[in-house]
Amino acid sequence: MISVDLKDRVALVTGATRGIGLGIAKALVGNGAKVSVVGTSQERLDAAVESLGKFGASVDGYICNVSVTNEVESTVSSVLSKHGQVDILVNCAGITRDVPLGAMKDDQWDDVIAINLRGPFLFTRACSKPMRRVRKGRIVNITSIVGMMGNKGQANYSASKAGLIGFTRTAAKELAGKNITVNAIAPGFIDTDMTAVLPEVLKNEMLSRTPLARFGQVDDIANAVMFFVSDEASFITGQILTVDGGLTR
Ligand SMILES: NC(=O)c1ccc[n+]([C@@H]2O[C@H](COP(=O)([O-])OP(=O)(O)OC[C@H]3O[C@@H](n4cnc5c(N)ncnc54)[C@H](O)[C@@H]3O)[C@@H](O)[C@H]2O)c1
Repeated sequence: MISVDLKDRVALVTGATRGIGLGIAKALVGNGAKVSVVGTSQERLDAAVESLGKFGASVDGYICNVSVTNEVESTVSSVLSKHGQVDILVNCAGITRDVPLGAMKDDQWDDVIAINLRGPFLFTRACSKPMRRVRKGRIVNITSIVGMMGNKGQANYSASKAGLIGFTRTAAKELAGKNITVNAIAPGFIDTDMTAVLPEVLKNEMLSRTPLARFGQVDDIANAVMFFVSDEASFITGQILTVDGGLTR
């Protein structure tokens, strides 16, 4: 794990009850940050807070649907009441509802756009206010290579992730004057619950197209996040870092 000094930084990670988000939260805690994790399942949230708390750090959990404005606003105000600041925001919550375009139902489109794109907008809007006040902040959005190259059966997901890339670049421009950086990571195929459900034939195809000949691990993404949130990355904003074992090259 990349070691960076995040002592006493306050970080908020959405979708942090499992998978990539939980891995990012672990890396933040391991580097000294106080971490607030956001998820939708109370059981998984409790388990995540307990496992992260074993590192001795300050960890708290919030049940919040990232697509609902008042839930996002009240989560961010609870974090501010407890810690007085939000230094780092990682927008990681995401879902898939894969189905070919012709058969895609309105709610399959709307749900994916709401969680994967509206969610990061709501959290960025809420967290950038306290960041503006202290003229410092780090925002990292988790997009996907699918947002750049498209993928059959994922019209909703690829549109949401492409939208997140545009959002990242615009937010970076708008917030740069307040010394807030906004970057994104575009993972390739990462070994998590989200990809575990995919058919073996598709997984094997992905593997055969990946020059580094393995699936990515949660830590591969967490390491990239640690770089973006470090002091050493202070001159980098509006960037999309692909972490995919060479799949899209
Ligand atoms: N796994 C991959 O191969 C891969 C590749 C590219 C991008 N990504 C992206 O990385 C992120 C994490 O993916 P993962 O594989 O860890 O997925 P995952 O399904 O294991 O975890 C998703 C997390 O998002 C949370 N979440 C879902 N809906 C939510 C909502 N409405 N409000 C709050 N939280 C919600 C879940 O509770 C969970 O903690 C997602 O944005 C995903 O699109 C994953």
